[in-house]
Amino acid sequence: MIEQISGLREDAEKEIRLAQNKSELNAVRVKYLGKAGLLTQVLRGMREVSPEMRPKIGALVNEVRDSLEALFKEEESKFENLEMQQELSKSAIDITEPSKNSQRGALHPLSRVYETLIDTCVGLGFQVVDGPEVELDYYNFEALNVPKNHPARDMQDTFFVSDNILLRSQTSSVQARIMQKLKPPFKIISPGRVYRNDSDSTHSPVFHQLEGLVIDENVSMADLKAMLTALMRKTFGEETQIRFRPSFFPFTEPSVEVDVTCPICHGSGCRICKGTGFMELLGAGIVNPKVLEMGGIDSKKYRGFAFGFGVDRVAMVKDGIGDIRSMFRNDIRFLKQMK
Ligand code: DAH
Repeated sequence: MIEQISGLREDAEKEIRLAQNKSELNAVRVKYLGKAGLLTQVLRGMREVSPEMRPKIGALVNEVRDSLEALFKEEESKFENLEMQQELSKSAIDITEPSKNSQRGALHPLSRVYETLIDTCVGLGFQVVDGPEVELDYYNFEALNVPKNHPARDMQDTFFVSDNILLRSQTSSVQARIMQKLKPPFKIISPGRVYRNDSDSTHSPVFHQLEGLVIDENVSMADLKAMLTALMRKTFGEETQIRFRPSFFPFTEPSVEVDVTCPICHGSGCRICKGTGFMELLGAGIVNPKVLEMGGIDSKKYRGFAFGFGVDRVAMVKDGIGDIRSMFRNDIRFLKQMK
């Protein structure tokens, strides 16, 4: 009987090694260890074994069963590993392949324009500063040479919070604040939101400006023109020309309106520029000495130039946006068109 068991063990081990896959292996397991398996059948023959031999045979059968089980497990895990490897190599993922339905976000047209303008100015040596949107009347008007009840206030239909507090109507308010803070010479730009009581296709109650201020000992209109030419060329293209027209702002003297050649028709005249070939884009000038003095700057020693313009306008021209208000409605269909 002992020989029979050893024979079974050898056969089983051979067959286990020969099995090619999990189901063949399982068949071998059933054949030897199953309920009606060969090893089980051996145990049935125990009746004929002498009582002294029984424990020996029993122990042997148990040992053989355990060692065969261990062998089965070992082989089984080999097959499992192999299967997993095959599965993985079949479903290999190429992480560099662009997906079919990838949804790419895009910057808002305003953010894009701001980015170009700010980058260019920083390249020209400007420092970027910020100011509050809820502002004192003093900084928005009085310190800019617009006293209370002055008719120049009518140019900007302002939202007042109280007698002395308002929603800033222009980023020029930052000029007065920064003069109190920085020692000249300095060059700053200040981007940000401004508010006026206006609403139609070219006016929104909230819109965006970029203010610039340069204070130094010998600045002139020529510096202003060179600087603005560089900025406008970066924004609208290298062929862009600018022109100055005399104008009036209480905080600059002399003051100019700055036009750029129409970015759509490049100066030949079209519907967008109403046939003039130019677009009115910004206000600028030499800082009024009164403003310097109010800001605590010695106007005998220092001079300055300043400029300010509507950034929404630039985005509208660049992207052909017909209604300024569409930029603030957050309609995803509009934003998708602007990618
Ligand atoms: N703040 C003016 C406006 O909103 C624009 C402006 C004009 C700004 C002349 C300036 C400037 O700095 O010098 O209409």
